Formats: sequence, C-alpha cells, structure tokens
Amino acid sequence: MKGGNDWWRHAVVYQVYPRSFADSDGDGMGDIPGLISRLDYLADLGVDAIWVSPYYTSPLHDGGYDVADYRSIDTRLGTMDDVDALIAQAHARDIRILMDIVPNHTSSEHPWFRELLASEPGSPAWDRYVVREGTGPGRETPPNNWRSVFHGRGWSHVRTADGQPTGYWYLHLFDTTQPDLNWDNAEVHAEFRAILAFWFDRGIDGFRIDVAHGLVKEAGLPDFDYPATDTETPAMFDEDVAHAPFWDQDGVHAIYREWRAVADTYDPPRIFCGETWVPNAARMARYQRPDELHTSFNFIYLEAGWDAARMRTSIDETIANHAQVGAPPTWVLSNHDVVRHRTRMAPLDVDGTRDLDRGLRRARAATLFTLSLPGSMYIYQGEELGLPEVVDLPDAARQDPAWHRSGGTDGTRDGCRVPIPWSGDVASYGFGTGAASWLPQPADWAGLSVDAERGSTGSTLELYREALRIRRDAPSLGEGPLAWLDSADNVLAIRRSAPAGDVISVINLTDAVLHLPHAWGTEVLVASSEDVAVLTTGDDVALAIGPETAVWLGATS
Ligand code: GLC
Ligand code: MG
Repeated sequence: MKGGNDWWRHAVVYQVYPRSFADSDGDGMGDIPGLISRLDYLADLGVDAIWVSPYYTSPLHDGGYDVADYRSIDTRLGTMDDVDALIAQAHARDIRILMDIVPNHTSSEHPWFRELLASEPGSPAWDRYVVREGTGPGRETPPNNWRSVFHGRGWSHVRTADGQPTGYWYLHLFDTTQPDLNWDNAEVHAEFRAILAFWFDRGIDGFRIDVAHGLVKEAGLPDFDYPATDTETPAMFDEDVAHAPFWDQDGVHAIYREWRAVADTYDPPRIFCGETWVPNAARMARYQRPDELHTSFNFIYLEAGWDAARMRTSIDETIANHAQVGAPPTWVLSNHDVVRHRTRMAPLDVDGTRDLDRGLRRARAATLFTLSLPGSMYIYQGEELGLPEVVDLPDAARQDPAWHRSGGTDGTRDGCRVPIPWSGDVASYGFGTGAASWLPQPADWAGLSVDAERGSTGSTLELYREALRIRRDAPSLGEGPLAWLDSADNVLAIRRSAPAGDVISVINLTDAVLHLPHAWGTEVLVASSEDVAVLTTGDDVALAIGPETAVWLGATS
C-alpha cells in the first residue's frame, strides 16, 4: 500500500462516527454497510486512512464508548462480515483503517461486570474493576471525592440482584454504565493484548486509544483537591485538573510499552494514536517515546482556537517536544467530543449569536494552514462540508450522557454528531433511505450536502480536496522541517522546504487585507478564500490576501 510502513508519520486521517455517517438500512442509524458504500467518496476526498469510532456490541449509553463485547459488532451497525468487507474495501482503495479501543472502562453490560455483580466481594471477578468499600456509617459515603467527567459523583453502589445497595462502590470516571477497569490486574492486561491481536489479525492497521491517559489511578486513590472554580465541571478537558490522581499517571506508560510490543510483531507493524488530554506538550511527548504510542491527538493546538500567538506557541512546543522523542506531531481541529470548529471559531455578533459566515471563513483558513504543518492531521466527518455545530437540538433528542447528568447545563456533544447530509433538499439528505436519522438534521442543510458541494467552485469540500491533493504530491508537506517567516502581528507564515520545491503557508488572522512580501512570489497553490489578488507597484509584483484567509504558495528554496 501507498506510503509504506511510515504512512502514519504524514497521513491525513478521516474520523468516521459510524452512527452518523451513512445509513444503509433506513433505521436512522448509520452503519458499516453505509460506510462501505461511501468509501469511494473518501478515496475521492483523498484521505490516507480512516479512524472509525466504536461499532462493538454496546447498549449505546455513550455512543458505543460503552463496550459490552470487544469481539463482536453491534447488530444495529453491522456484522463481523461487514467489518471484514470494510477492511478489504478500504485497503483496495489504499485507505488504511484504525479502530477505536476503549480500555479505561467497559459497559456495565460486559460479561465481566455481570460476573462481578453475581459473585462475592473479594472474588477474582471483583478485582478486574476499581471497587472499594464505602466509608462512614453504613458505608454510605463513596471511597473518595472523585467526580465523573460527565458530572455527579464518580462512584456508584454495587447493588445486589434485587437492587439493594451494598457497602461497596465501583468507580466510573464517565457514566454509571461505564465501570473503570482495574489496570493493576494481570487478567485485564492479558485480555486487552488479546483484543488487540484479534483485530490486528483481521487486518486493521491500528487503533485510536480512548482516554489513553486515564487507565492507571494513583495508588491509594487519594482525594483530589478540585480547583475551587471547578465545582461541577468535567475534569478531562480542563488544564487545571490535568494532574488529577486519575489522569496521566506514570504507570500508563508501561501499558503502552506492552501494546507496542504486540503491534510490532505484525508486518507491517500496526500503529496507535492515543487520546491523551494532558496539560502540555512535554507531558504529551512522553506518550510518543520510541517504544510507546506512535502518535497522540494534539489537543493543545485544538484549544489554541483562532489565536495567532497561542497557535504559534503550541506549534513550537509540539514540534520541539516531539523531536526529542523522534515522533511526528499530529494536528486536529474537530472531533466527536468538541464543538465543530466552524462554530467554535465564529466571532460573537452584537446580539450574542455566532457569525457562522465568518466562522466558516476562519475554519477554512485554519484548516488550510494546519494542513501545512509537519506531521499528520485528523479531520472529522462533515468538517470538509463546513458543517456548523447544531446548537438547537430538541432536549428530547439529546443522547449525550453528560447532558442528562448535568441537568442540561453541559454535555452538548450531540451537536457535532448530527448525521451527514449527502444529497437532496430534505432530511435525511441521503444519509438514509428515508427521513429518519437518530439525531434530527437542520432544515437548511441542503446547500451543505456532498452533492451540492462536489464540483462547486469555492465550496469547502473542493477546498479540502484540492489541499489534500497538493499535500499528497508536494514533497515539502507532511513530515519535515518548518521555518517561521517574519510576519506582522496576528499573521503566521511558515516555509516548508524540500529539494523539489518549497511551500510557503500563510494565515492572516486579522480583519484587514495583508500585503505579502514580493520575495514570496505570486504562485498561489490554493487559497481558503477568493480574496487573493496580485498587486503591481512599479516593478514590484506581490500578493495581497484578504482578512481571515490562508494561502499556500509555491516557492523556490
Ligand atoms: C473519550 C471519547 C468520548 C467518550 C469518553 C468515554 O473521550 O472520545 O466520546 O465519551 O472517552 O469513553
Ligand atoms: Mg442503519
């Protein structure tokens, strides 16, 4: 396959949230046959790989991140034969495939948790999860003060078959239906090594690791001194609490060394990308040491938002820290847990609503600039169409467990999971065979469908296709050196060099037209907006680019 064993060092990986991608059987839920039927679209878009969010058997209390059986497929999403076909069909198009593995917790419907509930305290089945006796009278107080990322307390009673609370509590850093596994238990280690091998043997190219920084808890499970401002908020996405006794513990690294050894026995070697919410680039690079994970999501860059100074600092720190461990950086602007970047980057209007036109303009510029950074890039389904976050879902439609646990004050992750519009003027816009979709689609998405944008000059889809095509062919893009060029405030400009020719990438984050130095030339490879003009002053020919615009320029070294 294209790219050889180092494909992941510079890949563009497309995240598929399978329930929301394409529905083949009209039940309103996307499925694996639907995804297979759209692989030609992904090949045409020009991605190197797909990462598919979980499709294992699951009660779907957290969108499939609550796995009841790691070796079977949820019947609503497909069959094992479908997955085999997906792998073969993706590979036939030179697209690699990453699955999602969820090792921090299982579903409470996993046979292991059921076995725990059916056996006596202290039996081996109990040691696979984090279970402790409660404190205080009647052991009615949880073992410590840890909270759930999805709000409320992080512990629930172990209950008897008839629903009576025992004096024991199980830890769940997420929903009550997601009990945390005990990674001090050898059987847990052995089981996950076997699950990795099971899927590697079927031909997948690697795994994205869910909550990769959370598996190991500090010995003794000490109380955490929550920051005063953080009375109820999720601890995972917050810098202040990144050093909590349940995140980023040194012990997690031994697990990934074990996993790397499994991946390296395969030919070609399989790869990992960790979901590591850590406070800084130095902590992050520890996961990329040569005998650990190949890559991790760079959320520090995602969190920099539309802010030139923060973007630049995060780029510098990421590159410097990854260089120390010999790993390529990764970049990501959207995924299934965060507000879509078109909406996130949109400035607020005077009336407090977001200006989504400028949001799209900024998102396109940010994406184009990000695609010129060294390393690999993750894009999330629908961002190539310029989809905004859906902010007005009816409460009754919402499924994010954090929405319910927070009494509707948080947990708005459904807004980025609304099914993709493919064609036509009315819902489900070709997502399924009829109108049904598990989350309702907005009435005004016809113009954002794949059919509407494909071949339409200036569409976001065509911008992504063009950028990906150029990136694939340009030897200076992907992994390799980056040099900063002098630029005005709120402008970032870099040179990516290769003997075959350089690319200069510029993003103008200001509200004003920006005149580029004439030494940078006028060979525009691709631009995020139409506002690019060649200006001639005497003998000088130079480019001017509009506000909130990014361009790639061909340049000689
Ligand atoms: C990760 C997933 C998220 C899920 C959580 C618990 O953050 O990306 O969707 O809810 O882990 O598994
Ligand atoms: Mg379906």
